[in-house]
Order: sequence, then structure tokens, then C-alpha cells
Amino acid sequence: MTDGDDQKPPAPATAATPPPADQQPSAGVPPPADAVPRAPAPPVDKAAAEAALRALESELLSDEEKPKVAAAAAASREPAVTGTPAVTGGTPIIKPLAPAKPVPVVVFDKVTKTYGKFTAIKDVSFTIDDHPGRGEMVPILGPSGCGKSTVIRLIAGLTPQFPQTSGKVLVDGKIIRGPGSDRGMVFQDYTSFDNRTVLENVAFGLECRGVPRSERLDRARLWIGKVGLSIKKDADKYPSELSGGMRQRVAIARTLILEPRIILMDEPFGALDPPTRARMQDLLVELWREQSPTVFFITHSVEEAVYLGDHVLIFSSSPGTILKEVKVPPPDRPAKELQRDPKFLELVYDIKDTIEQLESSQRGGD
Ligand SMILES: Nc1ncnc2c1ncn2[C@@H]1O[C@H](COP(=O)(O)OP(=O)(O)OP(=O)(O)O)[C@@H](O)[C@H]1O
Ligand SMILES: [Mg+2]
Repeated sequence: MTDGDDQKPPAPATAATPPPADQQPSAGVPPPADAVPRAPAPPVDKAAAEAALRALESELLSDEEKPKVAAAAAASREPAVTGTPAVTGGTPIIKPLAPAKPVPVVVFDKVTKTYGKFTAIKDVSFTIDDHPGRGEMVPILGPSGCGKSTVIRLIAGLTPQFPQTSGKVLVDGKIIRGPGSDRGMVFQDYTSFDNRTVLENVAFGLECRGVPRSERLDRARLWIGKVGLSIKKDADKYPSELSGGMRQRVAIARTLILEPRIILMDEPFGALDPPTRARMQDLLVELWREQSPTVFFITHSVEEAVYLGDHVLIFSSSPGTILKEVKVPPPDRPAKELQRDPKFLELVYDIKDTIEQLESSQRGGD
């Protein structure tokens, strides 16, 4: 837990949720260059691009070629920018670029983590693809101690799990060097500053980023509402005055307000009662659709994993490794409704059977 009087803002990388002392990543270390969130591409100024291309052409082309290129450009509706008009004798001299292959959001390549002689995870490999405009939801299932937290803390770049003993962990195609503000973590134990109000807790990450006070408080109020807390009644309360479910909403708001591209959630709803849990699942799906992050979500509930859908990773233990990856359709209606659907239940039982079979075959092979 946070001891409360540590008000020094940690590196923005960890601002989403100040972790307990033992989870504190190298505080004060600025996030690596590759951890900076992607800046939106500036709008393309077609006229300027065309002018630049013209200038380039006039440098590269011979006097004989220039009139042909100019004529072809005039005949084209989309001049120069596409590259099609730059022709000599009918042969394109500037070919359109082949579409770039999308870089996966996260890659684990034969990742092993050992503590002394104990192997926590062994040769874990998976790839989470980038879907522009729609991040992937990645529920992680597996027995206690199989290495689920190890896996997401490696993605977060948090010690002592990070760095791995062998293998590669790539985020957006780059080897990670520590925590970064492109990755936000929601811990199992609802971490918040005890001596800050809900509003101040939610605004904390923006404070670390230097957002002016009135703007950060306005945005924090918006997020308090989004996670279903009352701006009027709850914003000025302290964490000790909240229920577990409310504290978890604060933790979620603290992370999502920073709009990280990758959200890492370690059993975030484990301690909630079933109705609150179903509401939080719906909320997560709603926010996921709004912001399109890639969400890693550890759970012990097959129902929850199937509801959240997409790309379920099933782990086995001793040492932790991936038993199976299952693709599940994303939810098309509220949790309470979908979880009664016979097709949903069939999928849940299929996955439960798969886990049982894989585990017993693994035991047999031991
Ligand atoms: N710092 C550490 N030192 C030694 N062993 C560790 C350390 N951290 C984790 N482990 C061990 O690594 C294994 C995987 O731990 P991890 O916390 O990743 O499991 P988990 O799947 O998240 O379990 P749970 O579902 O109970 O949270 C466990 O056996 C754990 O005891
Ligand atoms: Mg765990």
C-alpha cells in the first residue's frame, strides 16, 4: 500500500496508479523514448506535399522528362501525391509505397522468467495484433501461481518481474526498457493515495504530466462520472470512506484518464459482488469501445473472460506456459443479458472442458 505521505509524483510512467512500495518501478527514471504515447499524425497538407514533390521532380528529372511529367500531372485527378503522375514514357518512376505491415502491439517471444532455481514462466510466446480503431481485449486465464501477473508486469516493465531472464518482450515493435505512459496498470489491490480525495486521486496522473489545475480537475470530474461515481457525493471523499467497488472505480478512473494505449488489469474485479462486477464489465467494454486500447485482463472467471472476448490466453502452471489461445467474439449486449444466452454458456463450457483436458493431458505427460 502507499504510505500516504509520499506525495512526490513518480515518473509519468507510473502515474496511472501509484503502486505499493514493492511494486514501485525505478521511480524518477523517465520513461524510455519508445514509451511515449503515439502523437496523432499531423494533417497532410496536400498542396505542400505536391509542391515538395514538384521541387524534387524538377531536381531529379531531365529537361526532356519535365514536360511529360507536368502533362501527366495535369491529367491526373490526384496529382503527384499518389506518385502516379511521375511517368516517363509510360513507366512510373515514383511507385506508390506498398502498405506498411502493421506492427503488433505486444509480442512475447520465448520469454522465460526464473527466480533463482525456480522457473515462473517458460518459453511464453504470443502476438497481440494491432487493429486500427479497435484495440484487442486479451483476457488471461490460468491457475493461481501460473505466472499471469508475471506476464503483465513484464509488459508494464515493473520490477522484480521485469526484466525477463530470457526471450524478448516487444511493445509496438520495440524492446521495452521499463515503465512507460503508453501502458497503464490497474492493480489487484485498488491502490490510491489515502490522503488525497477521490478527485485528487483521479487527477493525480494529469498533475504529473503538468496539466493545469482547473483543466485536470474538470477532466477528473468527467472520469468520476464515467466510472459511475457521484461527482457531488464522492469527489471529496477519501479512499477510506469508500467501499471496495468504489475504490476500484477510482483506480480504474486514475488509469483511464491518461488514455494509455495498453491497459494492464490484474484481477481488477476479483473482490466485487456479482452485480457490481457485471456493471464494471459493461463499463470496461464501453470505455474500451470509446478509447480502443489493447486491454490485458487477468481473471479467474471463465465467464468474465468469454464475456470480454477477443483473444483469450489460457495458461498452465509449473512452469507457466500458454496452453491455448482462443478467439471469442466481442460482446454485443450487456453482461447480465449475454451471460444467460445458451450460445455464451456453451462457449464457457467448451473453454472449461478445454482447460480440464489440457491440464490432465499435461499432468499425464509429467
Ligand atoms: N519476486 C518473486 N520471487 C520469487 N518468486 C516469485 C516472485 N514473484 C512471483 N514469484 C513466483 O512466480 C510464480 C508466478 O507468480 P505470479 O504472481 O505471476 O502468479 P499468478 O498467476 O499471477 O498467480 P495468482 O493467480 O495467485 O495471482 C509463483 O509461483 C510465484 O510464487
Ligand atoms: Mg497474480
